[in-house]
Amino acid sequence: MEKQLALDMVRVTEEAALASARHMGRGQRDEADQAATEAMRRTMDEVEMRGTIVIGEGERDEAPMLWIGEPVGRGRPDDVVIDIAVDPLEGTNLVAHGQANSITVLAASEQGGLLHAPDTYLDKLCVGPTVAGHVDIRQTPTDNVRAIASALRRDVRDITIVILERPRHEALITEVRSTGARIKLITDGDLSAAISCAVSGTGVHGVMGIGGAPEGVITAAALKCLGGEIQARFRFRSDAERERAARMGVPTDEDHVFSTEDLAPGEDLVFAATGVTRGDLLEGVRFFGGGARTHSLVMAYRSKEVRFLDTVHMFDRTKPPAVRL
Ligand code: FBP
Repeated sequence: MEKQLALDMVRVTEEAALASARHMGRGQRDEADQAATEAMRRTMDEVEMRGTIVIGEGERDEAPMLWIGEPVGRGRPDDVVIDIAVDPLEGTNLVAHGQANSITVLAASEQGGLLHAPDTYLDKLCVGPTVAGHVDIRQTPTDNVRAIASALRRDVRDITIVILERPRHEALITEVRSTGARIKLITDGDLSAAISCAVSGTGVHGVMGIGGAPEGVITAAALKCLGGEIQARFRFRSDAERERAARMGVPTDEDHVFSTEDLAPGEDLVFAATGVTRGDLLEGVRFFGGGARTHSLVMAYRSKEVRFLDTVHMFDRTKPPAVRL
């Protein structure tokens, strides 16, 4: 079931990437997001499943599509029942400005396999498989940078930490700089950065700082498939967010540390992402006469499969694209 679902799900992120990539550099973040969302919805409805969106574009009244609780999939009584967390377009600003590292992404699992996280912030510490088990978000950033370097058997100066460039991270950035580690400051996209730190060759060794909670759950699904680790603590922006989290039944104590397993407890986890603009992890969508080429990552936890998928999409058979290596 999981293997087939993984291939179905990557078609969903591919279609979303093809739709949103048309908006690259056009300065229209909402249009890019809407295109991805509509394509995801449409493609998901072809999949033989009874899916429910557990992390999506928001509540029913504020999101026309892929709202939390929305049923998706073909929906026949004998179709498999699954929960789905989507970020139809991670990095809406990146696409709008033609910048690197935007992806379309989702995670799926058996019912209850993904934490129903409210749309607030999480303080996150993400590392790859070699470093998993060697860091502790309750320790200082300096301790964690040193632990990452030591687990990777590198000098601190030879590791790179990704941090979202936000005023809230001023102290964090100053402290990480003082360790001697290199820093990659990003304007958006801590989810794709977190996956990158679990894929060697990307030049990313850790992600630190406060970003979206929904992205944190999808990150957990990806890192679980790759043997990496995320540790996270809620950072609420208001009492209203805290109360909403309490109503959703999640621990609201900001000292409570969520593990990868807490965020993504599922066993039948599937993760799929497709590059929209070129990034550290994935190529972006490349259009050419009669077609386009996409680059995706698709993973299934139980079957321990990690696939990079390079797909040529033929739009027009009368002028077929020259498929090349
Ligand atoms: P979008 O996908 O909505 O564009 O968000 C991108 C993102 O940069 C995430 O990667 C990150 O977790 C979050 O936004 C950070 O939120 P904020 O911009 O409020 O600091």
